[in-house]
Amino acid sequence: MMNRRRAALTSTAALALAAGLPLSVLAQQKKIVLGFSQIGAESEWRTANTESIKQAAKDAGIELKFSDAQQKQENQIKAIRSFIAQKVDVIAFSPVVESGWGTVLREAKAAKIPVILTDRAVNEKDDSLWVTFMGSDFLEEGRKAGRWLVDNVKGGEVNIVELQGTVGSAPAIDRKKGFEEVIKGKPQYKIVRSQTGDFTRAKGKEVMQAFLKADPKKINVLYAHNDDMAIGAIQAIEEAGLKPGQDIKIVSIDAVKGAFEAMMAGKLNVSVECSPLLGPQLMKAVQDVVAGKTVPKRIVTEETVFPMESAAKEFPKRKY
Ligand code: AHR
Repeated sequence: MMNRRRAALTSTAALALAAGLPLSVLAQQKKIVLGFSQIGAESEWRTANTESIKQAAKDAGIELKFSDAQQKQENQIKAIRSFIAQKVDVIAFSPVVESGWGTVLREAKAAKIPVILTDRAVNEKDDSLWVTFMGSDFLEEGRKAGRWLVDNVKGGEVNIVELQGTVGSAPAIDRKKGFEEVIKGKPQYKIVRSQTGDFTRAKGKEVMQAFLKADPKKINVLYAHNDDMAIGAIQAIEEAGLKPGQDIKIVSIDAVKGAFEAMMAGKLNVSVECSPLLGPQLMKAVQDVVAGKTVPKRIVTEETVFPMESAAKEFPKRKY
């Protein structure tokens, strides 16, 4: 895949040598160009992810062409096509939804531009369309949320409302599945309502208001697929005159600073970690791919769980 770039480098190197320039000077001049299509800025997590990628590109001396898709798949496809037209060295992107990527990925492959998936997976059978996929195990995150619930909320019926992430996105699909896997066969745990809040605070609040209107007394637990929706829902719960974290236990995912603040205030019970700090790992993979090295097909981020009791101690160490 890297033949085109290597050939270009070799001929440029020959020219540079003929002109009496040392190769070290040449190496400094020829920057790797990375086209990155980001989903948007829907959450605190996403903002931290964007910062991590921009900073890591700077640190690695990689030229970053960054495009914000504003949560629209069509914009991501446009951005990828534009990266292909610009003949970037590597394309990376975080796919907003799982399906519908085959055509554009085949176009990148035909142009011999390697593609790296970050954060979210695609639902395509042909895995030769990308070099590696780096990011969290969303299924396991859902399981961790479920395990915390069954270990900590016991006795009687437990009615759960669920705020799902963006419809069709890998984290929404897998976090739901992982959570349901754990509560399956335990009839006291019931998901009584489940709706998308699109990973945003505003939508999380709006949907929680609707849940509360429908069943104010019936909700024991909120399971939110991310912290932003949980934080939005906390406002709705307080406005309804209830105590988040007590009257309604709250389980969410990401472990962003906002969630730690809510945990320290006793309003959120647990946050399952999902790290957005993928920048350094991504730049390393980009450099390896350009250098023709083999990179693992799947790079999984190591993560843990933060219950509210650990929040005050952990908060000063948090980087996002
Ligand atoms: O894909 C990761 C998810 O996307 C994060 O959990 C969420 O906050 C974000 O918007």
